[in-house]
Amino acid sequence: MAKVLLGFMGVGKSSVAPYLNGCFVDMDQVIEDKIGMSITDFFAKEGEASFRQIESETLEELLQEGDDVIISTGGGVVVTECNRKLLKKNRKHNVWLHSSFDVVYNRIKKDIKNQPPLFLNHSKEEFKAIYDGRMILYKGLADLVVTVDNRTPEEVARFIKCM
Ligand code: S3P
Repeated sequence: MAKVLLGFMGVGKSSVAPYLNGCFVDMDQVIEDKIGMSITDFFAKEGEASFRQIESETLEELLQEGDDVIISTGGGVVVTECNRKLLKKNRKHNVWLHSSFDVVYNRIKKDIKNQPPLFLNHSKEEFKAIYDGRMILYKGLADLVVTVDNRTPEEVARFIKCM
């Protein structure tokens, strides 16, 4: 089964890639290749619901790719029920990279060129509510929880490799 990295925006799911063995797939990148534009532009043009549909199709495809694959998911993959069902079938292989709200918020705020649409389109309070709502969903799917605050991507990768 594929290893799946779950976690809120800004936790650094993609930054662990260089330190992992196996075939690393960034789901957001696969989606951008499919839609031929950035996710931010797609949100603005087609809306979040259309994005979620493509995200679900892509998750299903990637989960069939085999054992050697490490899939880095977008932070919102857990909001769609059919995705959660698929991820529940992937038990023992789901890793939740967890970070406190302040750390992810400040990280995203500083990374001006890569701010996701949900960050751009919501106030800090609304963004915190999204964060809070998702924690329970990640928790319900995670087989391994790695706290990323104060850890380098290399250290985080070491935990993932032990799984
Ligand atoms: C989203 C997270 C993003 C991307 C899209 C929606 C979300 O991925 O899939 O902007 O709803 O949390 P990252 O978690 O890689 O930023």
